[in-house]
Amino acid sequence: RTPLVIDTDPGIDDAVALLLAANSPEVDLLAVTTVFGNVGPEVTTANALRVLRLVGREDVPVAAGAARPLVHPMLHRAEEWHGGDGLGGQSGLLPEAVRAPEPVGAVELLATVLRGAERPVTIAAIGPLTNVALLLASFPGLKPKIARVVVMGGAFAGGNTTATSEFNIWSDPEAARRVLVEEDVPVTLVPLDLTLRCTADGPWLTALATGGTAAATLAKVMEHYRNRYLEFYGEDKAALHDSVAVLEAAVPGTLRTTPLPVDVLCDLGPARGATIADRRLNAPGRRIDVALDADFDAVKATVLNRLLDRA
Ligand code: BDR
Ligand code: CA
Repeated sequence: RTPLVIDTDPGIDDAVALLLAANSPEVDLLAVTTVFGNVGPEVTTANALRVLRLVGREDVPVAAGAARPLVHPMLHRAEEWHGGDGLGGQSGLLPEAVRAPEPVGAVELLATVLRGAERPVTIAAIGPLTNVALLLASFPGLKPKIARVVVMGGAFAGGNTTATSEFNIWSDPEAARRVLVEEDVPVTLVPLDLTLRCTADGPWLTALATGGTAAATLAKVMEHYRNRYLEFYGEDKAALHDSVAVLEAAVPGTLRTTPLPVDVLCDLGPARGATIADRRLNAPGRRIDVALDADFDAVKATVLNRLLDRA
């Protein structure tokens, strides 16, 4: 099985991605670490604990990570997408967490997991990249223990937070630049361009609602998200962003990738947080695997199937 750690900011689609990981037989879920992002850090941590309880994985250690970006203060959260409680105003439907997070922080837990792992570990990074950047900067000797970092983030044809920028990258561009550009760990980037084509619609959510307790709860949580997509894009298509990255982490090769050098704009202008891929054959810079294509219907169906409780 693939040893996996998920670094996350739950977040509605993060919560769905955690259920997906819990239900994926290829995955050995070693830890969940949290980061500020969609909502504040206390809330993302509380939500991770609640979701793991909902999905019956209280054995998975949870550690709280970065409360703010590396360099600049964060100006914006994604509460309009995820609700003030990060779960579409429905967090009360999930069980209250009965345990506290680990007494160590996210970076320490990640380092401990990597050190103790027999095989290199995949990190699915589905929030801002602050924790991952801090891990690589603090424990460079552990890089060989990382199989790859599968990042949900980036946008090449227009953003969802600003005209140019995707939320996870925009939330901490300096951290993203470290991970995508400056460090030498293998990265698979799952950008908005792809995840906006892997979406949940009415029939998908109806099926989810009949798929057992955890699935039905998350179907209710997703209603808010679905309505937001309708308002924002005018289409009944709630993107499964984080689940797409977690599916790729669980089943490598689900997405079709192209090795490209990608840069991240870190200036404070209107394109802050933009990702730029260089498609010239002889482009300089290190290449990361950018997921630009997939069998979108198969991804949607596979995610749904895995979320359902077949007991
Ligand atoms: C990403 O931003 C967050 O709002 C989602 O959880 C996802 O990780 C999509 O841009
Ligand atoms: Ca997320």
